Amino acid sequence: MTTHVSATADACVLVIFGASGDLTHRKLVPALFELDHARRLPKGLQVIGMARTPMSDDEFRAKMRESAAKFASGFDAGEWDEFAKRLHYHAGDAAAPDAMPPLAKRIESVAVAAGIQKKSGSANVLFYLSVAPGLYEPIIANIGSCGLVSEGKRWCSIDPAGASWQRIIVEKPFGQDLHSAESLNRALGRVFEEDDIFRIDHYLGKELVQNILVMRFANSIFEPVWNRVHVDHVQVTAAETVGVGSRAANFYDAAGAMRDMIQSHLLQVLALVAMEPPSLYDAGAIMREKIKLFNTARPVPAEKLPLWATFGRYGPDPAKSEPAYADEKGVDPARRTDTFAAMRLEFDNWRWAGVPFYIRSGKKMATKLTEVVVQFRRPPTNPFRVIRPDSEERPGNRLVISIAPHEGITLRIEGKVPGAGIKLDSADLDLNYLERFGGEPVEAYGPLMLDAMRGDRTLYKHRDEVESGWRICQPFLDCEPLRSSIHTYTPGSWGPGAADELIQRDSPNPRSWHNPQPEAKG
Ligand code: BG6
Repeated sequence: MTTHVSATADACVLVIFGASGDLTHRKLVPALFELDHARRLPKGLQVIGMARTPMSDDEFRAKMRESAAKFASGFDAGEWDEFAKRLHYHAGDAAAPDAMPPLAKRIESVAVAAGIQKKSGSANVLFYLSVAPGLYEPIIANIGSCGLVSEGKRWCSIDPAGASWQRIIVEKPFGQDLHSAESLNRALGRVFEEDDIFRIDHYLGKELVQNILVMRFANSIFEPVWNRVHVDHVQVTAAETVGVGSRAANFYDAAGAMRDMIQSHLLQVLALVAMEPPSLYDAGAIMREKIKLFNTARPVPAEKLPLWATFGRYGPDPAKSEPAYADEKGVDPARRTDTFAAMRLEFDNWRWAGVPFYIRSGKKMATKLTEVVVQFRRPPTNPFRVIRPDSEERPGNRLVISIAPHEGITLRIEGKVPGAGIKLDSADLDLNYLERFGGEPVEAYGPLMLDAMRGDRTLYKHRDEVESGWRICQPFLDCEPLRSSIHTYTPGSWGPGAADELIQRDSPNPRSWHNPQPEAKG
């Protein structure tokens, strides 16, 4: 699948469509600055921000300076002045066909001035689509029709020094449903080779998400128990304390939690937990295993859909004088958009047949938390029942992979409480990432952009992964009884009670969500 991956990031012109947007301000430019600060940006890298508002390079730099000072770690005024020389601004409507020839000229002049034009006469160009989703297809078509994709990576791999590459990073959402995702993938495929398309998922940039494969496949003790014989169920949670706020009108009300978080980020996390071992740690092998897994997701009969998922939206928060989701600005209450979604999945494969995977995500929840819980079965028999009849009640082992805000891995085991006789209690083996490995968590976008500059798609998504994600979620999204029975939940809670019923259903064992206590403030 993959053709040429460089050892280090290649110099290129990074063209950001949507330069006046939130993502550029809050994430992209601060992340680029952090990379520059860490001396990780390729020498010669240039950035052209494009948006409709007329602005000079200096005005753009001044705006970006404010953002970097606020959002980049290690901001330094002197370093900024050096970095800012890499920033350029080009005003124009990228969705309009006549906008591209001037952009092409600008790319050329910036590349020539920076000395990064290739022998072939064009430069490496990394496009970054960070605009409203409705503009994706017109912009991609314009890039293609104006000849901005001059050479493919295959040619580059024959003569990497002389030829250039053109790649594109695409932000989520990848479509609004399966149909629109397929249409977007076709539009991308008409202009770029699949190898040159980088569908970004910032969750794949998180350290503890990347560590899932390392934990599973660089150790020998986990794989023998990582299956239906030993695992009772798996939970994947992404809880946020923030509400939807001003994003409702432009984005969220047409999306909701299942589209925004589960279909995209959480299915990716789940795939890393459940996939078969890749033969190599490389993009092709990992993508193939994820796709194979998604293809085994058990189809849920229509009448069971309401039992396998639940939707919720937050109610008002009188203590903070905050409105219910349905009363937020820009929300159409009749749409019944979910700010909380929980679902159950099963995979019909040898490893996981019969093991439920529970996924949930919500806004205005009790605490900010992203984690995976692997709940193991109880021991098959309990020799301690002779002396402690109640010891039968002890829980099975539980492995918690904490992704955010705390980064670590905890394994709950049973132990003997010191003293006379046999009394059992649970205790945690706790690996705290920060304490063990040091370093501060870095903004995921920076390393991901560097990967795209190297041509490495290991942490990006293939078109089949995106479409499979939609195939899994679409039946739930289209299920009218599920949508019309949306539950209201209390802000600061763990979501509607229906989510507890979902996890308790169909199990002879008492299953429950792992809801850790919010950390005390102060
Ligand atoms: C984004 C969603 O992709 O991820 C947001 O659109 C969500 O709604 C965000 O808040 C969560 O990211 P993180 O890294 O804070 O868990």
